[in-house]
Amino acid sequence: MMRGAAARLMLIGDPHGGLEPLQEAYRQDVDAVVVLGDLGLTEPLRPPAGAPPICYIPGNHDADHSIHWRSLEASSAESLHGRVASLGGGCRVAGLGGVFRGRVWRPEPPAEAALPGEDAAPADYPGVRCPDPGQWPGELALRHRASIWPQEFAALRRQHADLLVLHEAPAYHRYGFRVLDDLAESLGVSLVVHGHHHGWSQGATATRGVPVVGVALRGVLLAVYDGSGTWRFERIRESQEDSPNVP
Ligand SMILES: [Fe+2]
Repeated sequence: MMRGAAARLMLIGDPHGGLEPLQEAYRQDVDAVVVLGDLGLTEPLRPPAGAPPICYIPGNHDADHSIHWRSLEASSAESLHGRVASLGGGCRVAGLGGVFRGRVWRPEPPAEAALPGEDAAPADYPGVRCPDPGQWPGELALRHRASIWPQEFAALRRQHADLLVLHEAPAYHRYGFRVLDDLAESLGVSLVVHGHHHGWSQGATATRGVPVVGVALRGVLLAVYDGSGTWRFERIRESQEDSPNVP
């Protein structure tokens, strides 16, 4: 299988408004920084000149308030949600932010059988439109900006990558989802990193045993890719457990 290029990446667990790890990352010698969702911004990110490229996937709480979502969209940072980006000159990073919600798609039987289908449009789903047209005219409700849509999932699954970053966890975690193991294995990644659950955790995907790391609230993982299918990773900032445990 074709492999992407070597890279050094810094991955940051859910900041929830605590941006110190990100500000420290601005000064680091890495190819890119990826924030794993729930940034909780109240103003757009403006990294200083010379900072590494800043990327993110959205978390569920980024769609709690319009200021969080609008700040994220106005930031000088690149969303990796639903796509594969080449970071550090060729390391392919796939991103899937947001969470599974029962009204859209909760991929466990029997709900999976009721799925409108991969080709369905958001309008085919009941109850996902904005209840207040003055806030988000004619569009999806803010909350569902951070829902995982089966169409996006299916499109991502057809691609290839070296690393998968998620907000939700794969099935090794007690609150994880098996379809994310399947996604990682379809993409051909050799490492999966996720946020959302606020504690450090480690496991592997269900079939091929791809390593999976859960990054703690405001924790930082350094992941170094050798360009030939092997990642080395280490925690370089543990955590800061000073906020309520609300993944
Ligand atoms: Fe979350």
